[in-house]
Amino acid sequence: MESLTMRAFEARNAHFDALVNTPGLRWLGQNTNHAPSHPAVREAMERCIRDEGFHVYAPPAGFEALRAGIVADFGLDGQAALVSDGAVASLYHVCHTLLAPGDEFVTTDPTWNWPMAFARSVGATVRQIPIYGPEHGYRLDPARLEAAMGPRTKVVYLVDPNNPLGTACTAEEIAAIVEIVRKAGAYLIHDCTYRHFAHEHHLAAKLDPERTLTIYSFSKWLGLAGLRVGAVIAHPDMAERLAAAPPNNLGSSILAQRAAMAGLAIKDEWFPGVLAEQRANQALIKAACDRIPGLVMPVYPSNGNFVVLETGGLGISPEALVAAYQERRIMIRQGSYHTPNFGDRFVKVSVSVPRDWVEEFVDLMPAMIERARGMNTDVKLF
Ligand SMILES: Cc1ncc(COP(=O)(O)O)c(C=O)c1O
Repeated sequence: MESLTMRAFEARNAHFDALVNTPGLRWLGQNTNHAPSHPAVREAMERCIRDEGFHVYAPPAGFEALRAGIVADFGLDGQAALVSDGAVASLYHVCHTLLAPGDEFVTTDPTWNWPMAFARSVGATVRQIPIYGPEHGYRLDPARLEAAMGPRTKVVYLVDPNNPLGTACTAEEIAAIVEIVRKAGAYLIHDCTYRHFAHEHHLAAKLDPERTLTIYSFSKWLGLAGLRVGAVIAHPDMAERLAAAPPNNLGSSILAQRAAMAGLAIKDEWFPGVLAEQRANQALIKAACDRIPGLVMPVYPSNGNFVVLETGGLGISPEALVAAYQERRIMIRQGSYHTPNFGDRFVKVSVSVPRDWVEEFVDLMPAMIERARGMNTDVKLF
C-alpha cells in the first residue's frame, strides 16, 4: 500500500516536472501571476545574488521590515506576522499547533484542500459545508456554518476570496462568522491568499484579533509562487505559541524575502496595473462565454485572479475540455482537482496572465468544445 501511494506520488511529480520544463506552456490553471516583475523586485533579487547575501540564515520569523510590511499591508496594527515558506507552510503550522486528535475542522466545499490533509494528519476530523451551486449563491451562509458547528469544532477554515469560486464574504457575513467562531470557543483561519484581487474584502482579525489567524501569500499578487514566501498574522500571544515549534525555524529564503520587501515598496505603483489587466482578462472570457450557448460563468466578476466555467450545458466533461486545451499547451484546471463532489461541473481558468494567452484561450474555445465531445479523457491532466 505504502509503495503504491509513493509510486502515484512519484508519477504526479514527474508529470509536473515535465510541465514546468515545457517551453511555451500557457499557465491558466494555477492562479499564479505571470505579470513581468517590477524592476525594483528583480533588482532586489539580483543584488542578493551579486552580493552573495544568501550564505546566512534569515531570522526565524522573517526580516523585521518584512514582518512589519505584511502587517501594514493588511492594516492589522498590533498583530504579529510570522514569515513562512509560502502560505501553505503557515497553514501546516497553524493546523499542527491548534488541532489535536478528536478535534473537528470545519470548512467549505469547495475549499483549498491541503489544510484538510494537515488537519487529518494530526487526528482531527473534517466537516465540509457544500457551497457550490445557485441554491447557495456559491457562498457560505453563516447560518449554515452555525448549524455545522459541533462541540468538538476547534477550527473553521475560511478561504476568502474562495478558490476556486471567486466569491468573497460581505462585511455582514464576516461579522456573523466571527461571532459564531467566538461563541464556539474555536479559531478562525482566514485564508486571505487572494485578498488583493477582491473588489471588496473584510478582515475577520479586525473584529476578533485573538481568535483569528490570517493567512498571507506573496505567490499571487506579487507573482512569487516559485520563491515560496508567505505568512501567518496573529495576535502576539498566538504568535508566541506558534513560535515554539515552527516547521522551518531557520528562516525562509533570503532571496524570496528580499523580493517580497521590494514588492511591498512598489505595490501601490505596480499592482493596480496587474489588477486591471486580470479584470480585463475576466471580461474577455465572460464575453466569449456569453457567445456560447450552454457555457456558464456562475460568478462574475470574480474576486480572485481566476474564473469558473460550467460545462454541463455543453454535454462535455471538465476533464475533456482540459485535455483538449492541453493538446494546445494551455493549462486550465478540471473542477475535480478542487472538489470530488462538484468537480464534474466546472473548469477553472486563471487570468493573471498575459492578454495574448487569454485571447488564445477564448479564440480556441469553440474548437476546443468540439474537440472535447466524445474525447477519451484517459490522459494525464495537469
Ligand atoms: C487558498 C490558498 N491558500 C494557500 C495557497 C498556497 O499559497 P502559497 O503559494 O503562498 O503557499 C494557495 C495556493 O494556490 C491557495 O489557493
